Amino acid sequence: MKKSDLVIPFKYEDRRPIILNRYLYVPDNYDAHDQFTDKITFENDNEINIEYCSGNGEWIIEKAKKNLNINFIAVEMKFLRARQIWFKMHKDNLKNLFVVQSEAFVFTKHYLEDYFAMDVFINFPDPWPKKKHAKNRLLKKEFLQEVNRVQKKDETITIITDNEDYRDEIISEFLKVEEYKAIFKKPYFVQDAKDFGSSFFLSLFQSKGKAINYIKFAKI
Ligand SMILES: C[S@@+](CC[C@H](N)C(=O)[O-])C[C@H]1O[C@@H](n2cnc3c(N)ncnc32)[C@H](O)[C@@H]1O
Repeated sequence: MKKSDLVIPFKYEDRRPIILNRYLYVPDNYDAHDQFTDKITFENDNEINIEYCSGNGEWIIEKAKKNLNINFIAVEMKFLRARQIWFKMHKDNLKNLFVVQSEAFVFTKHYLEDYFAMDVFINFPDPWPKKKHAKNRLLKKEFLQEVNRVQKKDETITIITDNEDYRDEIISEFLKVEEYKAIFKKPYFVQDAKDFGSSFFLSLFQSKGKAINYIKFAKI
């Protein structure tokens, strides 16, 4: 399998969602999601964990390799990054991984059924540090409510960020969602989580000596 083997088989103007060899492509600027009837499937009924904003997939590839009894879905909106994960998945013959190229909120709202997933992870969601761009942040109440809907009871969502302003905003958005309870006591984050795994950005920030904030909530 080569990277160039992944080809979206229509022109942008004819775009529609499609599953190609364990890769779900969800077009942007598209609204006929409800016409899509295909489903994400795995070879077994094992539990499904989701990572949003997977980047180049370092974290989820490692998790999938170490936990063959868990199925994983990587959600990344940029084609070149999603394709990189897809390529590694096939190279390492990881049958317990599925790649989704989509904006996270759109995918969750339109493509995931209630109680579909167990644990959810988001490693370094883009912080949009300039005030005028902060409206682009993913971690809002509306998104968290959708994620909560697709999780099973008692399952957790973990978010890590180096950005203190975004950390505080994420926590305040979580506290607006009654269906989540905090795992860590006030101020609702820790900075010393162990054995979490490694991602490109985690290694980068740790090498610069930056504090990493771990936020974890569970579905009530
Ligand atoms: C800062 S990088 C972190 C990548 C990886 N998690 C890591 O720790 O190395 C953020 C990633 O999230 C993706 N992303 C940002 N907003 C997204 C969204 N709304 N839906 C899906 N992916 C998104 C970006 O394309 C980028 O690859």
